[in-house]
Amino acid sequence: MLKSMAKVEATRAQRLHASIERFTAEEKDELLKEFHPDYSSKGFKVLEVGPNKGQKVPVELAQLLEGKSRLQDVELDLEKVDYDVDVLVIGGGGAGASAALEAHNGGANVLVVTKLRMGDANTMMAEGGIQAADKGNDSPAQHYLDAFGGGHYKNIPELLEELVTNGPLAIDWLSKLGVMFDKEQDGTMVTTHGGGTSRKRMHACADYTGAEIMRVLRDEVQNRGISVLEFSPAVELLLDEEGKTAGAVLWDFDAQEYKVVRAKCVIMATGGAGRLHYQGFPTSNHYGATADGLVMAYRAGAPLIYADAIQYHPTGVAYPAQIYGALVTEKVRSIGAQLVNSEGEIFMHPLETRDVAAASIIRECTARGKGVKALDGVALWLDTPLIEMLHGEGTIAKRIPGMLRMYAKFGIDLRKEPILIYPTLHYQNGGILIDKDAETKLPGLFVAGEAVGGIHGTNRLMGNSLLDIIVFGRIAGTKAAEAAKSVQLGKLSLEHVRRYAEEEKAAGVQGELSPKLLPVYTHGRDVR
Ligand code: FUM
Repeated sequence: MLKSMAKVEATRAQRLHASIERFTAEEKDELLKEFHPDYSSKGFKVLEVGPNKGQKVPVELAQLLEGKSRLQDVELDLEKVDYDVDVLVIGGGGAGASAALEAHNGGANVLVVTKLRMGDANTMMAEGGIQAADKGNDSPAQHYLDAFGGGHYKNIPELLEELVTNGPLAIDWLSKLGVMFDKEQDGTMVTTHGGGTSRKRMHACADYTGAEIMRVLRDEVQNRGISVLEFSPAVELLLDEEGKTAGAVLWDFDAQEYKVVRAKCVIMATGGAGRLHYQGFPTSNHYGATADGLVMAYRAGAPLIYADAIQYHPTGVAYPAQIYGALVTEKVRSIGAQLVNSEGEIFMHPLETRDVAAASIIRECTARGKGVKALDGVALWLDTPLIEMLHGEGTIAKRIPGMLRMYAKFGIDLRKEPILIYPTLHYQNGGILIDKDAETKLPGLFVAGEAVGGIHGTNRLMGNSLLDIIVFGRIAGTKAAEAAKSVQLGKLSLEHVRRYAEEEKAAGVQGELSPKLLPVYTHGRDVR
């Protein structure tokens, strides 16, 4: 490792102003097919039950989608309702909070339930920024083209249109609520590039953008007096006799008992799936990211889209072990750090889109044998000292203080030495299919945030996730509050869960108990 680091140092000055070619379209296609984990023949299983029967999903997700309901052997009295509300929001991250605020604005009686604490979510861990085309040289149309290309032209056009046209409004809404975006002396927003952007439209709060957004949204939910139940994950959706969404069953972690919520509309905002560790990858995700919403919605009959398209963030921490898999924000590259191999050579443009960048890193480490041995695997260098050579002393402390602090804890000063990275499981590009009102095929079930599929095609660009949680969170909240006004619910039912179990039995499939709720890291060892 140290020998290789010396090569990085020796080549730094000559690389400083290097002009780096981008891959051609053909090169990208080849790279993806050969090296991106989405193309692995081993990592996937074809579903045998449910609305997406016949389509492939990661094997770990299939285990849960084709799993056994936690309520299968439980006697529940659905006549005994513990909470009766207009709008139930499942999930306490940025999408759930935005949805709750708008549903509250719409006059609904709102309940937010969350598996861990309010704000324990991928939103909190988002670092580099949020995209919005609000500068003079930019436009939502330009933003659309970037995201459409990055998503391999598979984004659902009307969802992408909602995303980009609402971008500037989202920044304005967040600013008015109190989010402290980075600004120039004259008050204009500081914006940077992300992978695949043709304009600098990444708005940031240093490198803790998600934490700052979550701070403000969580405060606002509290200040409005919106009810929040923490440590109370939903385990199954409830439908009524006509098949309309009618609430959910919760598991109360403290009381160790089930609770019944009747709701005229439900907003699923349960986030991602990184803690399923697809194909053995580490993850940048928070502890509760176990695809619960996908499982519940799927079992109730809501189709998924692009559930086989997974995002591996190119730069996860590969060393030291204590922060293995954690996110090294793309912003590090957007302000000047280069990706270099064991020989100190540049092998790609630092701001290729994420799937291409991850595949290129994997190729360098495997087929080309130019990785650096790190812990139990191989990794590449992210040459961070270049940032201050390009932009001056103090830039790292100002623009990426979170990164500086994270590494400093382990005695690594990224102003002086490069860091080792490798792709980490970061995001599910696919999810539950919605329309432009954020509603699923299941009447009364809305979805927002990472649990949604289709907005980003099969590869999301940096900063479009923080944007989508705000845009579709707000749409879901507004539309659910509106819809709730005319909903008449019938008797609560779990009949769909029973029918799904029959379908599984007929197909001969039986995965794990699901939703998973929490990941298990004890490898069978009893840790009580
Ligand atoms: O690299 C990052 O800061 C991640 C941002 C994102 O996933 O949008």
